[in-house]
Amino acid sequence: MHELKVLYTAEQIEERVEQLADQIRQDYGDRPLVAVIVLKGAIFFATDLLRKLTNPIEIYFVELKTYAGTETTGEVKIHYWDEDFDIEGRDVLVIEDILDTGITLDLIIHRIEQLGAHSVRVCCLLEKPARRRVDVQADYVGFIIDDQFVVGYGLDYRGKYRNLPYIAELVQKPAGA
Ligand code: IMP
Ligand code: MG
Repeated sequence: MHELKVLYTAEQIEERVEQLADQIRQDYGDRPLVAVIVLKGAIFFATDLLRKLTNPIEIYFVELKTYAGTETTGEVKIHYWDEDFDIEGRDVLVIEDILDTGITLDLIIHRIEQLGAHSVRVCCLLEKPARRRVDVQADYVGFIIDDQFVVGYGLDYRGKYRNLPYIAELVQKPAGA
């Protein structure tokens, strides 16, 4: 059994997302942007963030999978990649839930570069620096966390907890508790 320990409340998330939107606004100004949303974990983060921006934004979706339960498999697979992915010469902002080992974002960034984007930046809600295996950096990061497994606000454990309005650590309960 698990219990949930709240790390960031809905109010704290809202405030941080506003700050990230400010940073992005300062960097891009009115320039048109292509947002690549990494399914499924980034859905709530991306929709909250993008509604705070006013420059023209096109949205694409991709879905990759590395995880089985709380352990990464170390292997990443593309499950979905929008077909009409027209990003040649464009400024691209990848929106992801969490930067963990970096394997997922590494693949996405390389593929976007190969497709001829003019620039690629990454915006992550969360980052776990302790677990990095590949040299990938996010340009915008919501919260830096320790090596802990978190759920909520899009993030799941075996498909559950995505719709929690807050971010919580998933703590294993001792047997019999
Ligand atoms: P990476 O390729 O190891 O960086 O993995 C990134 C993906 O792993 C994220 O998009 C999440 O789907 C998943 N992930 C990593 N850490 C967590 C976590 O603490 N909770 C839920 N999902 C996680
Ligand atoms: Mg994910």
